[in-house]
Amino acid sequence: MASSEAAVNGDDIARGAYLVQGLGHCGSCHTPRALTLQENGLDERAAAYLTGTELNGWNVPALRGMPHWNEDEIAEYLGSGRNAKASVAGR
Ligand code: HEC
Repeated sequence: MASSEAAVNGDDIARGAYLVQGLGHCGSCHTPRALTLQENGLDERAAAYLTGTELNGWNVPALRGMPHWNEDEIAEYLGSGRNAKASVAGR
């Protein structure tokens, strides 16, 4: 069902937000942390949310604006855990 031609409706956006902000905990690595270690924002209302950071010496890329990935690749990655460019590791 995920195709770039599909009209984006509120349900799709809500589901994506649920996957990214809830289930996936994407921000726990992709959002920079404050000195006191809390994440600098938990959703798109925070400017720093998902802007990338460094974690134990790993460079964690920003997820806001990924010009080198197209919509289908992002949908495939979120849906199946992998696409031609990357796969999810760990849990
Ligand atoms: C445990 C920490 C962690 C969590 C949680 C995490 N990521 Fe990542 N992510 C990383 C790291 C580290 C990299 C960089 C990997 C590399 O350089 O090979 C990365 C890379 C990526 C990339 C590739 C970006 C690029 O520019 O190539 C995407 C897309 C991505 N993550 C999406 C997500 C999504 C979506 C979620 C939530 C479902 C998520 N990540 C959760 C640590 C994490």
